[in-house]
Amino acid sequence: MFLFDRVKSLDAIMATAEKKGLHRSLGPFQLTLLGIGAVIGTGIFVLTSEAAQKAGPGMILSFVVAGFVCAVAALCYSELASMVPVAGSAYTYTYAVIGEMMAWMVGWALILEYAVGASAVAVGWSNHAVGLLHGLGWEFPVPIRNADALMAKVELFFGATPSAEITKALQVGGWINVPAVFVTGAATWLLVLGTTESARVNALLVLVKITALTLFIALTLPVMHAENFTPFAPTGAAGVFGAAASIFFAYVGFDAVSTAAEETKNPQRNVPIGLIGALGVCTLFYLLVASGAVGALGAQPLMEAGKVLSPGSAEMTGRCALIGTGAAQPLVCSKEALVHVLDTIGYPALGRLVGLAAVIALPSVVLMMMFGQTRVFFTMARDGLLPDKLASVHPRYRTPHVVTIVTGIGALIAAAVLPVGKLADYSNSGTLFAFLMVAIAVMVLRKTDPARRRPFRTPALYIIAPMAIIGCLVLYFSLPLTAILVLPVWGAIGLLVYFFYSRPRSHVGRGIQL
Ligand code: ALA
Repeated sequence: MFLFDRVKSLDAIMATAEKKGLHRSLGPFQLTLLGIGAVIGTGIFVLTSEAAQKAGPGMILSFVVAGFVCAVAALCYSELASMVPVAGSAYTYTYAVIGEMMAWMVGWALILEYAVGASAVAVGWSNHAVGLLHGLGWEFPVPIRNADALMAKVELFFGATPSAEITKALQVGGWINVPAVFVTGAATWLLVLGTTESARVNALLVLVKITALTLFIALTLPVMHAENFTPFAPTGAAGVFGAAASIFFAYVGFDAVSTAAEETKNPQRNVPIGLIGALGVCTLFYLLVASGAVGALGAQPLMEAGKVLSPGSAEMTGRCALIGTGAAQPLVCSKEALVHVLDTIGYPALGRLVGLAAVIALPSVVLMMMFGQTRVFFTMARDGLLPDKLASVHPRYRTPHVVTIVTGIGALIAAAVLPVGKLADYSNSGTLFAFLMVAIAVMVLRKTDPARRRPFRTPALYIIAPMAIIGCLVLYFSLPLTAILVLPVWGAIGLLVYFFYSRPRSHVGRGIQL
């Protein structure tokens, strides 16, 4: 039966990693920083306004819900990552536990998570770069600063009514996001040069981000107004869960730590430290930042005839443009949520500094997402499921350069034309699938291989893992319909590739031990 055949033994996985492995250079502190570097990014700096549009002040609860799902998933990840410390993450675990086809599907979904996620962050970076230049008195040319007008054209093509909002979006928006293309290209280049260099740069950038968020919290918490919290959940529970499903993106990336396991010293101990440490730090910051944003500025959604406008849609873009610019705009309209809050409450210069921090630091997130992606691709190629050429390691830099460049080009195209919120939602649909499979895998492995050494054991596994599964399902079905559909459509393409290309070439299928 296709579904469960070709399980790769854990011992074989470890042996492959030993022989064709990457260089082990990362320690526990570097790994935690790697996690924080991957996690704090566009989610908090940009998508906070989309979360507000979906849930109003109730987005604070959305951050709690999304953080909770990630925490239980991280506990499951940690057990597997400490047992199977090789590159490939959820893909590798599924290969060892369920079988090749499901592993392929997970790897395929991880492409959504990492490559599309990298694009989302690149677009968030672009928003801040354009804003910073504006602050310096230089307007980045509108046609090449975003793809909002293109989006409006697409919506019209699919039958949207040419309302005043959509017409306005067509007038004010651009066609291609050149800054996002630039930052994706730069991240690709850094990754080709090498992991250690990238991790060192990352550590510095993490410091910048943490400082910016601390500044934001320090400035907003003292000026919170109780009335900004009412009505607390204008869109009800559905709104809170909808925002949680999108803001889940803000937490994504901690699992990139586990994809670096093969490049980690003493991974049994250090990978769980990296995963859980990074998630804990980020959750704390997010709750404080979200409370500060709501309390200082208010976060009520824009509605049209009782219907909440969909963030990222041309209608929303147009409505915001009709409202005006600068302080006139509510939080939900801002493309740089945190900068906008500080600007509006009377700290324009400090707001620009936070914007500068985002411009300096968000590339580290693009870098980490691409790093995760290339390592998953690399492992799939090493298993024979993707062309061998992708698994080649650069003779001098010792990095999988071919796969890095291929990934970079894909992410670059997505970043050029799609809006940040949509990219984030598509990325989330892939991530939620991968998390769900990990939660299943960890329980299956406890049954099928109970004696294997587990340097980290998920506490109360049979409570935690089912909670992770339910949490992933709830968030997945709270995504917008297009994002829900992305996963099955992407999955169907993946299955075609699997049966026509990968399955006949699989090393496990052909009995090749590399
Ligand atoms: N969590 C990362 C971000 O918010 C992907 O940018």
